[in-house]
Amino acid sequence: MEIIIRPTTKVTGKVKLPGDKSISHRLAMLGAIASGKTEISNFASSQDCHSTLSCLHALGVPVEVTADHVTITGRGLDGLQAPHEALDAGNSGTTIRMLSGLLAGQPFSCTISGDASLQRRPMKRVIDPLFQMGAQIQAREDNFPPLTIKGGRLRPIRYVLPVASAQVKSAILLAGLFAKGETSVIEPSRTRNHTELALREFGADVKENGLEVSVMGRPYLRGIRAVVPGDLSSAAFFLVAATCVAGSELLIDEAGLNCGRRGVIDVLSAMGAEIEIFSQGQQGGEPIGRLKVQSAQLRGGKLAGEQIPGIIDEIPILAVLATQTENGLEIRDASELRVKESDRIRAVVDNLRGMGASVEEFPDGLFVPGRQKLRGGRIKTHGDHRIAMAFSVAGLMADGETVIEEAECAAVSFPEFYEKLRSVTIG
Ligand code: S3P
Repeated sequence: MEIIIRPTTKVTGKVKLPGDKSISHRLAMLGAIASGKTEISNFASSQDCHSTLSCLHALGVPVEVTADHVTITGRGLDGLQAPHEALDAGNSGTTIRMLSGLLAGQPFSCTISGDASLQRRPMKRVIDPLFQMGAQIQAREDNFPPLTIKGGRLRPIRYVLPVASAQVKSAILLAGLFAKGETSVIEPSRTRNHTELALREFGADVKENGLEVSVMGRPYLRGIRAVVPGDLSSAAFFLVAATCVAGSELLIDEAGLNCGRRGVIDVLSAMGAEIEIFSQGQQGGEPIGRLKVQSAQLRGGKLAGEQIPGIIDEIPILAVLATQTENGLEIRDASELRVKESDRIRAVVDNLRGMGASVEEFPDGLFVPGRQKLRGGRIKTHGDHRIAMAFSVAGLMADGETVIEEAECAAVSFPEFYEKLRSVTIG
């Protein structure tokens, strides 16, 4: 499906966000191995989270879905059943990596794979620690899905993560629930801590000490009622659109403001964005707030090092924003972007060039000069949701029409994206 985006004169109104994708995955997985019912409101509409629900269903977990409400009848720590066929994680790296942690603790063998993009994503990062804990995992070329996981008795480990990845940290913590004793993970820099917060809500004993996080094995997890905060990564497209289009003002309610996710707000504000945050308290240990954003001229700058994990999913849209800054934006230490749903550095560079912008590409990032006029063009999304949405926003500020190819991929994280974008733009 192709979608045509036309320039807008302003971005205005209010956006209701879908439930946070990262948090929804975690609540569903923990609900599955807890005792009793877990009731989740504002569960993410994202296709990725629905991949997680179907995998859990295939593992014998009763899952009921009505509108944005999900009820999971937990099977307890030892209640998952061997599936009849291979599990399908679709496009979702979070599903395959985190479920690998759960599957490592099961007394059966099963296979998990996904679509063509997922089959190109590196899995050695979860295979190595789970192997050290006692699971046997086969993978294509020892690195790529399909993964066949033979779980069993696990031993706790203390693992130093070579890459900053919340998915890998979470896979190890989930496996740690099945090991007797304390499992610890040390991160090279801080990543989102949704798993730690959710584990506590379900009753697990989790300790955080600097960059080290530990969980005690064999806890009693009990089902919970939870409301999922709005997805800040989805909000980022609207924050940038309203910032870049002169005369805009937009309200976004109940956005999740987890310290590992709000990097995009901090980075935009540091460059001169007009974003006001009104705290709306907490939901399930996760801070939430209302955001009011108005258009502003941003300075630009450099993003690198420890800042990167906190904005990893927002880099495509920040690269689009960079064209509208005064001094441009350099992004470094972000080579992880090359192994996301697509090679996002490549995809951003090619599409920005296709819109007439100049960009310099580095192995670990890019430099986008500021004050550039974009012209409409054809966007190759490579089936990557964040590329589709980032370049839809680019289309709002370009001359002429922008055609988004394979636009339906936005549904991987944000099925309502185009409808919401239309509702706050004029043109
Ligand atoms: C996620 C972690 C990040 C992020 C992904 C969601 C999570 O991946 O890019 O969209 O929910 O833990 P990595 O852990 O690979 O950095």
